[in-house]
Amino acid sequence: MAITWSSKYSTNVDSVDEQHKKIIEEINHLLDLMKQGKARSEIGSVIDFLDNYTQKHFADEEEIMARYNCPIAEENKKQHAIFLTKIASYKKMLADQSSATVVTLDIKQDLMDWLINHIEKIDMQLKNCVE
Ligand SMILES: [Fe+2]
Repeated sequence: MAITWSSKYSTNVDSVDEQHKKIIEEINHLLDLMKQGKARSEIGSVIDFLDNYTQKHFADEEEIMARYNCPIAEENKKQHAIFLTKIASYKKMLADQSSATVVTLDIKQDLMDWLINHIEKIDMQLKNCVE
């Protein structure tokens, strides 16, 4: 079952919440394409989109955390670097593997789990900073 954004994931910063919604949507889209056995090029372009979009989102979010002197800001940056490394490794796997569907399971358990866990444990601390 696809995960959807809900208010329980809110950081109380609308722009961050909107970006989180978009990232969740795109990961769901990616999983759908993989489930349907879509072509590598289609899957690759969603991964490329996610790569670009999350880089922009992380930069925005890091700037907001820094502006509000959020104590979790440094940890947030470290975690973001881990996510971008994951995306880079998926891009490489996709380029190396003969079947695009091989990456499905890893991504399914990995990207969405990472994102939800990150929002709950780190990003939601924004609430206390922007109050
Ligand atoms: Fe974050």
